[in-house]
Amino acid sequence: FGRNIHYYESLGSTQKAAHQLAYDGAPEGTLVITEEQTSGRGRLGREWYSLSGKGIWMSLIVRPDLPPQQAPQFTLVTAVAIARAIEEITGITPEIKWPNDVLINGKKVVGILTELQAESDKISSLIIGIGMNANHEPNDFPPAVEQTATSLFIEKGEKIPRARLIQAFLKNFERYYSIYVTEGFRPIRILWESYAVSIGKRVKATTVTGVIAGRAIGITDEGVLRIEDDEGVIHNIYSADIQQT
Ligand code: BTN
Repeated sequence: FGRNIHYYESLGSTQKAAHQLAYDGAPEGTLVITEEQTSGRGRLGREWYSLSGKGIWMSLIVRPDLPPQQAPQFTLVTAVAIARAIEEITGITPEIKWPNDVLINGKKVVGILTELQAESDKISSLIIGIGMNANHEPNDFPPAVEQTATSLFIEKGEKIPRARLIQAFLKNFERYYSIYVTEGFRPIRILWESYAVSIGKRVKATTVTGVIAGRAIGITDEGVLRIEDDEGVIHNIYSADIQQT
């Protein structure tokens, strides 16, 4: 991982570039990284603000020999690797909000977007996009996210060496990826739960089919969030926006 790096001053989106590279046969571990994105993408079709020079905007190509149903677990493997890298570089222990937000003091510092290229029942590649607010100052965030976003610089009070953070992420990702492949998802789930914010708390999950309110009781070995509603019914949540209530 990280031996094959495509670095750009400016790109539309590293996700888009990585999809093309993967399609053209780029090997596992290929990393696309840019200083600035002009049309960064977030989850659920949202826009991702990717200011020049302040963040870490990158996409990693992974080619696990697994069925497509296991793709969402990689978002959680990635979140754990990022949380660990942030701890190593800044000394701050972040929190993870299911499925893909890394938070510090309740504000978002990293977003992860995992996209899939599959051939029938096999993953041909996963494109894991990571957006980290590294050295943003308070005024750098647009009004739409200034209440909910933060940066490592704001939280730590010191400039963050981006290259070291990327290195720490790649090292941890490689480690957790190999644990996941050899030992299964369970050890990752346990690590993930140790960083999780909402487990045991009351949450509201907004899904495409409606809103489910209840207590988040954990994630399954597939990485699916489980919520117990007030009637004691357990719901498996595959994709949603989670709010703590
Ligand atoms: C989210 O909605 O929280 C996920 C955000 C993912 C943003 C990253 S930045 C690098 C990569 N390229 C993109 O266009 N998006 C991802």
